[in-house]
Amino acid sequence: MEIEGTIVLVTGGANGLGLAISEYLSAKGAKVVVADLDMDALKILPDKIERYQMDVTKPADVKSVVEKIIKQHDRIDVLINNAGVIFSESFVDITNPDGIMHDYGRFKDSLTVNLDSVFIVTSAVVEEMVQRRIKGNIINISSISARGNEGQTAYSAAKAGVNAMTITWSKELARIGIRCNAIAPGFIGTDSTHAALSVSTVKHILSHTPLKRLGVPKEVAKAIVSIIENEFINGVILDVNGGLTI
Ligand SMILES: NC(=O)c1ccc[n+]([C@@H]2O[C@H](COP(=O)([O-])OP(=O)(O)OC[C@H]3O[C@@H](n4cnc5c(N)ncnc54)[C@H](O)[C@@H]3O)[C@@H](O)[C@H]2O)c1
Repeated sequence: MEIEGTIVLVTGGANGLGLAISEYLSAKGAKVVVADLDMDALKILPDKIERYQMDVTKPADVKSVVEKIIKQHDRIDVLINNAGVIFSESFVDITNPDGIMHDYGRFKDSLTVNLDSVFIVTSAVVEEMVQRRIKGNIINISSISARGNEGQTAYSAAKAGVNAMTITWSKELARIGIRCNAIAPGFIGTDSTHAALSVSTVKHILSHTPLKRLGVPKEVAKAIVSIIENEFINGVILDVNGGLTI
């Protein structure tokens, strides 16, 4: 699929990786539509980028925004499921006076925003793709944590679920011309990464990364372009992590 003229919906595209992806695809000639919860960040997106406020965990909200985009453009060619919230909590914390075990409510909240959201948005978009016979492209932003990351039970489980849905959909949807892939970024130097990790954890990560640096958001955007353009890539979870998992 050519990038030029393609209608791309990026969830969570108002900040961080999603913003870098949106700006990169827009510079390459795609018509980028961002759907995000953060109204302040939506307001300051570049003029070229169309924007909607949307909560990816609310099916009615998602359906209404998808309908508006279809009304405006007649199609969505590419969906990038990027919205998510990095979340860390140990399964057991013997120093916590309020209870040593991982809170179940926070577990469910993390699953809702990182896993259910991908199901909800993809359902709404694929329904339109199927009805309009669009040979579409779904790209899910997973994470290196899908392999199981100490201190991230909920987030790791959610991203492992995203990988499983990616592979399932790549098998189910290929026969109707829709490809589905995921990108699994390692540690990218975004505000959310620095907020989630201590300085010593970042040092530890760098020492185990063959390239000895954090990634930059544009490197995730470049991987997305490769997936969109290459019609034979399907069912892939593409690691973009400087070799950390080798
Ligand atoms: N930053 C990294 O190093 C890294 C590594 C691996 C995976 N990821 C994944 O990349 C994606 C983006 O992460 P980021 O680091 O850019 O985070 P970020 O916090 O900078 O951006 C996330 C965006 O998602 C939006 N969002 C959150 N909840 C939402 C909701 N309910 N509805 C709509 N929008 C919502 C936020 O408003 C924000 O604009 C996430 O899925 C994250 O898990 C990030």
